[in-house]
Parts: sequence; structure tokens; C-alpha cells
Amino acid sequence: MKYNLAVIEGDGIGPEIVRAAIRVLEQVAPGKFNYQQVIAGGRSIDQHGVPLTDEALATCKNSDSVLLGAVGGPKWDTLPGHLRPERALLGIRKELGLFANIRPARLYPVLKDACPLRKETADKGFDMVIVRELTGGIYYGERGRKQDSDGNTIAFDTETYNQTEIDRIAKVAFELAGKRRRKVCSIDKANVLESSRLWRERVHVVAKDYPDIELIDMLVDNAAMQLVKNPAQFDVIVTSNMFGDILSDEASQLTGSIGLLPSASLSSGRCGMYEPIHGSAPDIAGKGIANPIATIVSVAMMLRYAFDMNDEADRIEQAIEKTLQKGCRTIDILDNDTQPLGTNAITDAIIAELA
Ligand code: IPM
Ligand code: MG
Repeated sequence: MKYNLAVIEGDGIGPEIVRAAIRVLEQVAPGKFNYQQVIAGGRSIDQHGVPLTDEALATCKNSDSVLLGAVGGPKWDTLPGHLRPERALLGIRKELGLFANIRPARLYPVLKDACPLRKETADKGFDMVIVRELTGGIYYGERGRKQDSDGNTIAFDTETYNQTEIDRIAKVAFELAGKRRRKVCSIDKANVLESSRLWRERVHVVAKDYPDIELIDMLVDNAAMQLVKNPAQFDVIVTSNMFGDILSDEASQLTGSIGLLPSASLSSGRCGMYEPIHGSAPDIAGKGIANPIATIVSVAMMLRYAFDMNDEADRIEQAIEKTLQKGCRTIDILDNDTQPLGTNAITDAIIAELA
């Protein structure tokens, strides 16, 4: 049996890194997947005038999983909000019900020197998973512009969460913590925001079903500070869409580069979307120097979560580690005097480990 994979290469470095990841996928699971190319984001705007066509969405919905590179770029930056490439991403997340975004951030021991923190802190290492709520909050709330009576322009975005949305993401975090170090840190801004106060209340209600998991609450500003002060304290973080977006970029840089961090976006069903957390990096697009590791690890997450192919996922992760141990580096994680490898060369090195 073959699985159907919807592939959105997207914009910028998207095509380069997705093709690299598919080469790795074919190495560990040859012939197991049908690839259906889906045009979305900037390329779709150019071809169809909209970031996501109904047909593209339908292909994603009917697939067993979606693999995405990145969307967006300066070319489309001045378009009105509803026509921007990012809309494709937000649309797919919402329409596929991908409410749980899993973003693991761990420091590869071999990349300690690429970690920007103090040596004592980096030496301790860290291994956390950020569980980001992905289909609610301010990214989906009511927004718009209006004028007050003085003709002053007002712009607004609304942070809204309902109890069901909070309960289900909290559950994902507790379940995950049960398979890890049994600690959940829920991050909010409950000292100011009402939506955060409901968030905190509900997370504590859900926690009653998980008596063996330790739960702490942390305010988001403090969390931003704790991440750079002592990242080893975190096991599973659960937070809202916007806070998760911001904190996951921060956490990624602690691992050495945003080019290393994968993500899985999951629904209550089986079909999920797998993508690196970084963007389309238009400044380096087409140069063949982008780090494909985040996308390759995203493929490993897909094998694990969507297809129960744990051995294959383990093999990919081990191959990446071995490749790094041999000193292979793309330019974003260069910490030695060797020449940086390009996207294809580091992919070849990973495939050589797998062969
Ligand atoms: C991410 C990205 C997206 C987000 C953008 C491109 C809309 O930053 O996946 O973290 O904010 O969710
Ligand atoms: Mg982001």
C-alpha cells in the first residue's frame, strides 16, 4: 500500500529543502509514497491570483499527510492581508483542523558550540517540546480597521479562546509529557488578559486527569527570559498560537539555528501537516545553501506520528546526528574552520549514513 503525500514546496528556499527531504524519505521508505504537488502561497498568487485554491485545499484534505516547505516573500509583502501567501498556511491549518502544533527544540550535544548561551548553560543541554495552539487565538480572531469620530484610524485584532479549544490542546500537552519527563509549563499572560485567565483555569481543570504530571504556570514575559536563562528547566510547554509562534523562534535559535527545528501540526484525525518552523528565507533562496535539516526532521516526525514508522524515523534522526558528529555543517551552524556544505551536499551526507 502506498500513502498519498500532498507536497507544498512553496516559496523561497521551500523547493530546495522539500526536495532534499523527499530524497531522504525515499532512502528510508522507498516507493511507499505517492507525491502530489500542490501549489500554494506566493506561487499560487502568481498563477491563480489567490494564495490557496479550493482544489489545492481539497488535495491536502484528501491526502494522508501534507509536507510543506515555506511560503511567503518580499514580492507579495504589500498585498492586502487576505491575499498574502501566509493565508495559505493559516487556511490549511484551519480547514484541516490542525489545532496542535508540536515543535521540539533540543540541543544536539555536538552543536553545543553553536548555542548562543553561556557555556555552563549550553553544557547542561536542553530538550523541550513546545505545544502551540494553532487554529485559534489572535491569528484567527476578528480583525479590521475603523475610524474614530476624530478621523483617527484604528486597527484591531482579537484574542479569543473558548474552553473546548484550551482543553483539547492542554490534553495534547499532558499526554506528551506522560511520554517524556512528566512536566508541563503552561505559558500565558493571565496578569493582564482575560483569554489567558480562562486558559489558566482550563489547563488546571484538565490537569486533574493527569495527577502524575507536574504543572506550572508561567507568564510569557518571564518565559521569554527563562528560556535564555535556564532552558533545561522545560520539558513540555503549552501555549497559545501567538505566544507559541514567538517563543518557538526564540527556542530555535538556542539550538544553534532556526534551520534545525521541525514541526508537526496535528488534528484529531490522522492527516497532519509537517513543516520546518522557519520561513522561506528569500535572501538565500536559490543559492543552494539552505539547511534542510528542519525539513528532514519534519519528515521523521511524519513517519512517526502519521504512519507508525518509528524505525525509519529513528534512522533519520540518527543519521542526522552522525552527519553532524562528522563535522558536516551548513553555513547557519558553522562552528568550525571547515567549508560549509550546501543543501544537496549535507543531504548526500545524511543519505550516505542511511545507506
Ligand atoms: C510559523 C510561521 C507562520 C505563523 C507564519 C508564516 C504565518 O511564523 O509557522 O511559525 O505565524 O504561524
Ligand atoms: Mg513563526
